[in-house]
Amino acid sequence: MDKLPAKMRRLRTSESMRRLVRGVNLSVDNLIYPLFICPGAGIKKPIESMIGCFHFSPDLIADEAKEVFSLGIPAVLLFGLPEKKDAKGSDAYNDSAALQQAIKKIKKAVPELLVITDVCLCAYTDHGHCGIIKDEKIDNDTTCQILAKVALSHANAGADIIAPSDMMDGRVAVIRKALDEKGFTDTVIMSYSAKYASAFYGPFRDAADSAPAFGDRKTYQMDIASSVKQAMREIQLDIDEGADIVMIKPAMAYLDIICRAKQRFDVPIAAYQVSGEYMAINVAAAHDVFDRKETAIESLTAIKRAGADVIITYFAKELAQNKL
Ligand code: PBG
Repeated sequence: MDKLPAKMRRLRTSESMRRLVRGVNLSVDNLIYPLFICPGAGIKKPIESMIGCFHFSPDLIADEAKEVFSLGIPAVLLFGLPEKKDAKGSDAYNDSAALQQAIKKIKKAVPELLVITDVCLCAYTDHGHCGIIKDEKIDNDTTCQILAKVALSHANAGADIIAPSDMMDGRVAVIRKALDEKGFTDTVIMSYSAKYASAFYGPFRDAADSAPAFGDRKTYQMDIASSVKQAMREIQLDIDEGADIVMIKPAMAYLDIICRAKQRFDVPIAAYQVSGEYMAINVAAAHDVFDRKETAIESLTAIKRAGADVIITYFAKELAQNKL
């Protein structure tokens, strides 16, 4: 008998059949929801550049945290804005700054919700760069020492996971050592390991008021056209220095990197669907280019299929509410 051609559509005949054989399932368990913390009181202000996102003052963050956790989302990623900016970004390690207050409020109100903090200086420096400037250059090693102070300040306030996003060389080792020395041996490091100098961060830089006042981030963030091997080296270095979770960022334009990292490394792989990816979907959907819910789910499914164990996304709450 002649061999019959395979009928692929047999497994697609109904939603139940498709569900049965699906294989890639988005889960609320793996989502991280980003939140922006600003100084002041009584503030929940919509962020103009990022539809559906808000600046929260520390006094209003507990209710938001409760809602996030009640939806089943296990973790939030906090970004802080300073009271005042200076050349060293000193508000970043001020123990009574807005971000540190917010960490305490969340851990008090919802102890089970994991608090992850972005460790970087760009929102806190008056020049908007992620490090300290010396002779018109980013001083890598001095910056690492300051980042360790920032990480300690966050850990002191109660952060469960420290997420350095600055892309200085060697900062994971410096931060790990500083945390261990102060007894924070259980504090996890989720490192922004393969972070590209991407145009997709545009809306975020408005939200965090963190655009560089001069130049760009191309001397410390990765070249968008660099080889896959370079990304693997960045990730390997962070793992060797003590990163517990490694992150690739942005997500959709770097699915190949996520896929290769998943095959190669045994630590959990996180992917960040950044502000520009989120807003591209929102703006296009608002112009009836495509359906918002379907596109958001398709984009997140692709990130998961590529190999992301953990996904950071501004869609997290809506996805969990099934309200996209
Ligand atoms: C801080 C930081 C940035 C983002 C996360 N942490 C901006 C940047 O590197 O310029 C971007 C997040 C987003 O676009 O959603 N360095």
